[in-house]
Amino acid sequence: MKLKDNVAIVTGGAGGIGKAVVRALLDEGAYVVIVEAEDLNYSTNQYYDKKIKGLTRAQELLTEFSDYRDRIIILNGDVSKCSDVTKVIDEVTKKYNRIDILVNIAGVVTAGTIEDLKEEDWDLTMDVNAKGTFLFCKYALPVMKKQNYGRIINFASIAGKVGIPELSHYCASKFAVIGLTNALAKEVAKFDITINAVCPGIVNTQMWDLLAKRWSKSGENIEESFKRNVGNMIPQGKPQTPMDMAKAVMFLINSEHVTGQAIIVDGGATM
Ligand SMILES: NC(=O)c1ccc[n+]([C@@H]2O[C@H](COP(=O)([O-])OP(=O)(O)OC[C@H]3O[C@@H](n4cnc5c(N)ncnc54)[C@H](O)[C@@H]3O)[C@@H](O)[C@H]2O)c1
Repeated sequence: MKLKDNVAIVTGGAGGIGKAVVRALLDEGAYVVIVEAEDLNYSTNQYYDKKIKGLTRAQELLTEFSDYRDRIIILNGDVSKCSDVTKVIDEVTKKYNRIDILVNIAGVVTAGTIEDLKEEDWDLTMDVNAKGTFLFCKYALPVMKKQNYGRIINFASIAGKVGIPELSHYCASKFAVIGLTNALAKEVAKFDITINAVCPGIVNTQMWDLLAKRWSKSGENIEESFKRNVGNMIPQGKPQTPMDMAKAVMFLINSEHVTGQAIIVDGGATM
């Protein structure tokens, strides 16, 4: 139980990758605060809807993780809204008086050529992926600085390392996450706070449902398209799993001297 009594905030904790990270933190003894939103202000995302139903999924997790019920809290918060973020930080510090770990996983995607993308696609991806990460870092770091300890892991992507056609806006948001990570890591290094990013390749979650649908060939279903895209993009020929990402997160939490890095877990896609 390496993380016994540590307090961890996980945004997007009820999503495909988030759930595995939450489980890994609970298994190591941490208290976990899941931050999820039910609706967003934008008309579309990987859930094709304003209603992303993150809170509903988080409630279902309570049943699945019933052994850990006394160590999970679910808080309603849209990471792109400053007032929601400060409310979450206030509630967590009031209850636990500390924040040891922050994992910024909440993220959204849409896809399209530059002609197809709307201003809303840009605003959505920048607001949730980049600004949401900025806001949580901004309000968690003063708490971590006071306690002279902290671990922040921001979810970027291989799209934060290389350009991917039809994901220009998403790439911009994930490059931003890596820039933010590097600059902040230097800014707070003296406080025994490490800040790193994880860059997943292809993980079979709701997010990839949208991409597999968009990039399917005629007659292909989502599953077939997913397999073909994995075959084309990943030298290892297989997708990464949520557990791969949870392992990367746990490595970074336990690595005192690793900071300002963007760890790529992509089966060789970007090598
Ligand atoms: N799946 C992949 O292949 C892949 C690849 C690269 C990067 N990523 C990144 O990993 C992270 C997790 O993605 P995933 O595949 O688990 O997707 P997912 O859709 O399963 O999970 C995303 C979660 O974020 C939550 N969320 C979205 N907007 C929010 C907001 N404004 N406020 C609070 N919560 C919000 C959603 O409710 C959802 O539970 C994302 O940042 C994504 O960009 C995923």
